[in-house]
Amino acid sequence: MPPTVVVRRLPRLPDGPGEDPSAITLATNYRDLRLHALRTSPEAFASSYEIESQWGLDRTVARLSNPQAAHFIATLANSDESEAPRNNDETALQSQQWVGFIALLGPTLSKSESSAKVSASHDPFAQMQATGLSNNLVRTSGQATTSRPPQSGTLSYHIGAVFVEPSVRKAGVGRALIDAALSEAETQVHERKASAFECTIHVDTYNDAAIRLYQKVGFEVVGEETYAQQTVAPGTSESRVIERVAFLMELTRVVVSQR
Ligand SMILES: CC(C)(COP(=O)(O)OP(=O)(O)OC[C@H]1O[C@@H](n2cnc3c(N)ncnc32)[C@H](O)[C@@H]1OP(=O)(O)O)[C@@H](O)C(=O)NCCC(=O)NCCS
Repeated sequence: MPPTVVVRRLPRLPDGPGEDPSAITLATNYRDLRLHALRTSPEAFASSYEIESQWGLDRTVARLSNPQAAHFIATLANSDESEAPRNNDETALQSQQWVGFIALLGPTLSKSESSAKVSASHDPFAQMQATGLSNNLVRTSGQATTSRPPQSGTLSYHIGAVFVEPSVRKAGVGRALIDAALSEAETQVHERKASAFECTIHVDTYNDAAIRLYQKVGFEVVGEETYAQQTVAPGTSESRVIERVAFLMELTRVVVSQR
């Protein structure tokens, strides 16, 4: 029987986890999976194992406490787990094996209005913090506004990273992670009384599996960007730059009002 994989939302961590063992475990698990992803699929990420393995746990905590990021984890359900999957299930997140992740960043100014676009070459988490975009911002008829809630508008998101552990690929886990992220965006559209959301993602032009996955969900290629990946030569501290080309893919979804 194929393994049962359940997608769960990670609870947002406090700014500094202090001595909270639960927050430290979640941050450590996330860091381990992220490093595993960078080691297993180096060609899929703008970052690299050599760089991120030097970072302390505080960098992971910063990602997981970012109020503009929603993180989802695919976990391998225990064979005796018969109850329905539950989000925010900290016990399951603590006890089960993590086999995939996705990060939804936003909402921000829409890409057409923001002077600080998310680019393939930089860490989108850092860009979001550096630009200080407010999570209240939505686009209304071409104008950015902080007045909330708007009657209509488009919330703008970016998917920062997707990874599925090789042993459970091609079983619908990547699709389930993207569906979870997009459904979170949809929930926020309802909460903020907006009417639609747009979501972008960067993907290397040769990454056929990811491109097909995104197309299947409804993303379309809207641009192409050459970027320089900064990395470190394995086993050395020598920095090097690799030139890569990414597609910018985009999806826009109008959300039907619940009223
Ligand atoms: C891309 C990735 C996330 C897909 O995860 P997955 O769990 O295998 O994907 P799914 O099983 O949900 O597949 C959904 C659809 O994606 C497409 N797809 C997935 N893997 C594919 C492959 N190897 N070749 C072609 N199409 C593929 C198919 O259209 C598939 O639908 P189908 O099964 O009905 O044909 C996974 O391969 C991965 O982690 N790759 C390394 C990291 C990476 O590239 N991340 C993206 C960075 S932008």
